[in-house]
Amino acid sequence: MLKTPEPYSSELFVYALREATEAAARAAYHWIGRGNKGQGDFAAIHAMRERLDQLPCDGRVLIGEGSPDEFPELYTGEKVGDPAHPLKLDIAADPIEGTSYLAKGMTNAMAVIAMTPRDTMFDPGPAFYIEKFAGPPAVKGLIDPAMSVGEKLAVVAKATDKAVDDLTVYVQEKPRHRDLVEAIHKAGARVALYPAGDVAGAILAAIPGSDIDVLMGTGGVPEGMISACAIKALGGEFMARIDPQLATERQAVLAAGFNLERWYGLNDLVKSDQVYFCATGITTGLMLEGVERTKDLEKTQTMLVAGPSGTRQVLTTWHKREG
Ligand code: FBP
Repeated sequence: MLKTPEPYSSELFVYALREATEAAARAAYHWIGRGNKGQGDFAAIHAMRERLDQLPCDGRVLIGEGSPDEFPELYTGEKVGDPAHPLKLDIAADPIEGTSYLAKGMTNAMAVIAMTPRDTMFDPGPAFYIEKFAGPPAVKGLIDPAMSVGEKLAVVAKATDKAVDDLTVYVQEKPRHRDLVEAIHKAGARVALYPAGDVAGAILAAIPGSDIDVLMGTGGVPEGMISACAIKALGGEFMARIDPQLATERQAVLAAGFNLERWYGLNDLVKSDQVYFCATGITTGLMLEGVERTKDLEKTQTMLVAGPSGTRQVLTTWHKREG
């Protein structure tokens, strides 16, 4: 077990948690640009799981890699840590956010994780895709999901004291976002198009002064839930609507009783303020520097966010290489 003093603060816990994303990023490093998504993912999953098991808590994977039949580690429902520990937490983990970035040696791949007290994280059941809106603290409570894209951007501009022309909206470059991109351009704002990786986009949208003002569009549920946890602590705005992209997913979410019209607010998605979030860069990207390696050392950069204080730190660590 890690020697964390008890009772420990959220800041101390998140400091211990960072070892899980740092281990995943360091394990993934070898697989950057090798065209192999599977091996990199496997190495990062294994490294993250190993560190999570040493955390001073009773952890349960709520949003992980998938079913236990397909994934031996970090599968949905898996327990990590100490089952007898009084700190009972749920986990949303993505050991590689941007496996395609990683395999292609592109920017923006990260290892990310979020934890909240047991049963306080929204359980997305069989949903894989959700439509997301993320923005800065100034727009909290001001966005009605029914507004048009132009109306939303007008609200953001007014609340942040900017012109719509000066706003940048992070959107994943996907055919499903053609109309969204057109509407953003029509409103007069800029679009920052990225082929994958919307955790960085959502978190930067919630951080005033970053180059991203808003995130819009449909992406993965795990990435959405991890972003929601971080944004809850950061005090930004985030909302989401289940938005299946395949007929089978649609059938499954409807059978599970989800309403596809409903937008979930931050308090529906993350019911507690006690959140822990860590992201470590694998390849250098919008939010973080990637892993750097010398003969003896590996350097990582990690963002740590702890709630309820909303403390945000970016930590650079030089790790001694083993062996
Ligand atoms: P990877 O599968 O390469 O890790 O991609 C992650 C991601 O780009 C997320 O950031 C995003 O939310 C989701 O995939 C979008 O999924 P899709 O690429 O299927 O539209």
